[in-house]
Amino acid sequence: MEQNIFAEGLPVRRRPHPFTLLVFGASGDLASRKLYPAFFSLYREGAIDDWFLIGFGRRPWSDSDFRQEIEKAIASFRLNEDERQGFLERCFYVQGDIDDPASYERLAAVIKADRDLVSYLAVPPEQYRPIIDNLHRSGLSRRHPFASRVVVEKPFGRSGQEARALNEFITERYEESSVFRIDHYLGKETVQNIAVFRFGNGIFEPIWNNNYIHHIEITVAETVGVEKRAAYYEQSGALRDMVQNHLLQLLALVAMEPPTSFSSDLVRDEKVKVLRALRPLSDLDILANTLRGQYKAGLIDGQNVPGYVEEPGVDPQSKTETYAALIAHIDSWRWYGVPFMLRTGKRLGRRVSEIAVHFKKPAMNLFPQAFGGANQLVFRIQPDEGLTLYLNTKIPGLTDRSRMVSMDFLYGTGFGHPSPEAYERLLLDALIGDSTLYTRRDEVEASWAFIDPIRQAWDAQAVPLLLYEAGSSGPLAAQGLAERIGDHWRRL
Ligand code: BG6
Repeated sequence: MEQNIFAEGLPVRRRPHPFTLLVFGASGDLASRKLYPAFFSLYREGAIDDWFLIGFGRRPWSDSDFRQEIEKAIASFRLNEDERQGFLERCFYVQGDIDDPASYERLAAVIKADRDLVSYLAVPPEQYRPIIDNLHRSGLSRRHPFASRVVVEKPFGRSGQEARALNEFITERYEESSVFRIDHYLGKETVQNIAVFRFGNGIFEPIWNNNYIHHIEITVAETVGVEKRAAYYEQSGALRDMVQNHLLQLLALVAMEPPTSFSSDLVRDEKVKVLRALRPLSDLDILANTLRGQYKAGLIDGQNVPGYVEEPGVDPQSKTETYAALIAHIDSWRWYGVPFMLRTGKRLGRRVSEIAVHFKKPAMNLFPQAFGGANQLVFRIQPDEGLTLYLNTKIPGLTDRSRMVSMDFLYGTGFGHPSPEAYERLLLDALIGDSTLYTRRDEVEASWAFIDPIRQAWDAQAVPLLLYEAGSSGPLAAQGLAERIGDHWRRL
């Protein structure tokens, strides 16, 4: 039994020491859309008690201007006066320039010395270095005996080389254990459940290997387009934006060996082994086993939407992919011969993120007229968070035919209360210093090592860019990719 449960339900080890959260990019979109609401949720749930929030930015705001901005960001919570005041009176603003050492001296003067410091970089990647360097120079990156951590958003480099250089730069100034690289997919409840499902149940792990599994399919399909992020996305594309991080993290979680305990380094040791065992794709493999697409105009939910090249800020000649699909292999004893099918895209017909484990057919088919298909286990990451197991069942009646039925577990009905937002969980972990759900330096570098050759071939236009209609399930040729492994993608 857990001994030290607080009234609010959080064990002592999940409660942060007194801390200051320092937010760079305090007036930005990420801070107001994700960070402040997540932080307020933690406050409302009683998960944090002794804290200060300091926003740092260029705008000439006073504390009260900053508080007004935060209040707007958390307006949907309908706070009462006590909560409002209790929360906002701990929020302060420091105006400054990220390149100006004097600004950091001002920061150092207001940040209290007797507590942990968590610096959150909700800024574009070109600002990571000046901020981290200045934090270091002003003595804010090491505060013994208190912790000083830094949370770095994505993208983490645009190539393996850039990621390595950035890692080098950061770890010269912060301890690796204090660097928190976000992959918000790891904060999703259903993603965390992958490990619990696999290692907390005795019945699946014995069949979790190439003797029983035919292939694994990982899909992250979105209906949204590039939104207002053309400047970033034009430099990124789906491969960098989604596959290098979110999809490979999902692959690592579903494929990793059981760690000897669920501590951050042991879990990440196992994940990195999977990423390192990804079979590098040769030029020929890239041609045969990867596919890239871009959406053209179409219909989403009955609404006409423009094509990618017509979106504001996008080069009309752009060759940036908004869809990526590939077949990967893991060269390990457990997974040898099991294809991992990965696909992601924007402006597809349905929003769905899932991992489908396709089992092999029974050794012999006793019901040749009747077979409904091989078993599948689907982790539904979003929406309709849950798990589905597909089984063959006899159709009732005078027939001997069977078909697939599903056994469903739905988070919504199973637990009756909503799951926390990914950012809430991740923020709490950074405040505590638990990096299990953050990506370690070697994981990021191993992911890039797999992606780099594909990226180079795609950048050189060696793989044709296929157009697909917005609202469809992606380029038609993606079916051909699935047929290579003798199957088809699950319907979107
Ligand atoms: C982000 C990508 O990391 O993930 C976006 O940059 C994408 O392009 C988003 O839309 C998807 O996240 P979610 O949580 O909505 O599935």
